[in-house]
Amino acid sequence: MAEYAQKRIIRKLDLELFLSTMRVNPTPKVALEQYTISESVAATMLYIAAYTNNDIIGKRVLDLGCGTGRLSLGAAFLGAKNVLGVDIDKDVLKVAVTNSQNTGLTTNNINWVNGDISTVNGCFDTVLQNPPFGVQSRNADRAFLVKALASGKMIYSLHSHPQVDKRLINMLKSSRTCIFVVQPSVFLKRFVEQYGGVVKAVYAALMTIPKMFDFHTKTSHDFVVDLYVIERNFVE
Ligand SMILES: C[S@@+](CC[C@H](N)C(=O)[O-])C[C@H]1O[C@@H](n2cnc3c(N)ncnc32)[C@H](O)[C@@H]1O
Repeated sequence: MAEYAQKRIIRKLDLELFLSTMRVNPTPKVALEQYTISESVAATMLYIAAYTNNDIIGKRVLDLGCGTGRLSLGAAFLGAKNVLGVDIDKDVLKVAVTNSQNTGLTTNNINWVNGDISTVNGCFDTVLQNPPFGVQSRNADRAFLVKALASGKMIYSLHSHPQVDKRLINMLKSSRTCIFVVQPSVFLKRFVEQYGGVVKAVYAALMTIPKMFDFHTKTSHDFVVDLYVIERNFVE
């Protein structure tokens, strides 16, 4: 029996509750697109990685642009062997460390590094990332994809849905699964292939975030994100 064989499947609701106890970033920085992933999307992403594809339990997980640590800590909660969270902003990492201490998880297999993603070295089984989408700094998500493909075998990466689609938002709101399988963008598919990866699946999910910045005009904001599941098709 593998050392990290799971004893029981953690219910998605329990995972969402676990994620919802975490502190959010009190001073999000616009330039770094520092919004925190919703519990719902984080749980969906982690669930697909852990239970559809067996890419979390007993695995070495890297979280690029970890922010307050939701994806890192969710992966540790589900049974990752170890987790490394990396973020360029030391203030947000302090929140991740506090969250880590408050979870009650054994923290000796969770590490946090303050630095640019370009400084990451090492081989990981799985990379999780919710990168800046490039709203503030054009194409910011591409450097994350390149680093993810150089670092891990399986990559779970969030990207903005190509267009604002109110019909899709309404369908996602009323769907029981909260996700739909969609086609990859032609550009991202080619980009991934150029860097040695293959897009295995893309899921559209509804992200709802509370008002964070002055330019947000409503109390909450709904938008569609696409979760790319990518496999690296070369051996280091
Ligand atoms: C959209 S937020 C996501 C935060 C977190 N992963 C989550 O999902 O809640 C993007 C994160 O990437 C970090 N970031 C942006 N550029 C970075 C870079 N070049 N290197 C490392 N982290 C970066 C930001 O500070 C921010 O915390």
